[in-house]
Amino acid sequence: MNENSKYDVEAIRREFPILEREVNGFPLVYLDSAASAQKPVAVIESQREYLSHFHSNIHRGVHTLATQATEAFEGARETIRSHFNATYTAEIIFTSGTTDGINLVAGTWGRANLKPDSIVVLTRMEHHSNIVPWQILSYEIGFKIEVVELLTDGSLNMKEFMEKMELSPDLVCFTHVSNTLGTINDVKKLTSLAQNAGAIVLIDGAQAAPHIKVDLLDIGCDFYVASAHKMYGPTGIGFLYGRLELLEAMPPWRGGGEMIASVSFEDRTTFNVPPYKFEAGTPNISAVIAFGAAIDWMNKVGIESISMHEQALTRYAHNELLKIPGLKIYGTAKEKAGVVSFLVKGTHPSDLGTLLDQLGIAVRTGHHCTEPLMTKLEIPGTVRASFAAYTTFAEIDALTAGINRAVKMLN
Ligand code: ALA
Repeated sequence: MNENSKYDVEAIRREFPILEREVNGFPLVYLDSAASAQKPVAVIESQREYLSHFHSNIHRGVHTLATQATEAFEGARETIRSHFNATYTAEIIFTSGTTDGINLVAGTWGRANLKPDSIVVLTRMEHHSNIVPWQILSYEIGFKIEVVELLTDGSLNMKEFMEKMELSPDLVCFTHVSNTLGTINDVKKLTSLAQNAGAIVLIDGAQAAPHIKVDLLDIGCDFYVASAHKMYGPTGIGFLYGRLELLEAMPPWRGGGEMIASVSFEDRTTFNVPPYKFEAGTPNISAVIAFGAAIDWMNKVGIESISMHEQALTRYAHNELLKIPGLKIYGTAKEKAGVVSFLVKGTHPSDLGTLLDQLGIAVRTGHHCTEPLMTKLEIPGTVRASFAAYTTFAEIDALTAGINRAVKMLN
């Protein structure tokens, strides 16, 4: 089953305390990692260690704790820069997550650069977080949003993408990996096509960063956003990568704290340089440090190994699930991450999800924050199983058996 024979999933699982628990009298089968991944001891311990031994506010104090906390915080920024291969640590801005990062770009770069006659291109597979911030801004400024549709396998319609590029868009935003369909977009190619058309490119990396190696310099995009909690790190923290030149030119967003250079009632208040210019208020220090620990953990296991394991799980899940009568998988693109969305004829996704939970199996049901995609597919939602470094083939067997059992009960 697993072509990645050196991959010791049982050893990995032992690092995740939550995976030992039972749900409704059954061993937990956690297949909702695309919503949020579980946390290894290294991440849990990193927060405990910080809070127990060197918590202090950062960038402000001359005392030892402040220095240690600042070093750990800025060390995590460097870990993230290096992992994602950005050029400068100044290009890594801490946000509360992917959604916050996109809102930051919309609220600063977008508000400063988009005009009533501008064109913003999105795709049908975007998460609401990469749609709504642009819609809110378009209601204010009046620019047009163009949408690239998908092919039946859930991959991007490249012919249409090219047609949209002919409109000379100002901004092109797309997800790296679809949270609903699992489609992996060829972001390097899309970036180059969009930039050649004169556009700035923003990539939603929330569902890619946990699964594949992301090399920002190689991709060449202008903005990239992701969340720590999908990468085995804490909730409430993520980052925005922006090309330094763009960040320097962008107006500040939220005011207060570290984003300030000097404040005056008499003269004009001045602002700090990136990344601090966009980090108002005391940041989520413990979460940033634990985000660094999560990346170190992923690199210890090896992102390529995690990727291979998840690819094997995805192939296995497709094979096994398709044996269930009436089951249809949504998202069958050739390049696909560990996300399998499906419906079983005659059952509602939320009924199926509720019955699976009775068997200890956690899946997500509904529109997965991709309502425009569901509208196009003419379905109310799907059941979604999603995988991570700790997912086993036996858990996919449990899912298959659980669906068979639930379907019998529902029919
Ligand atoms: N965006 C997350 C998901 O796809 C919450 O489940």
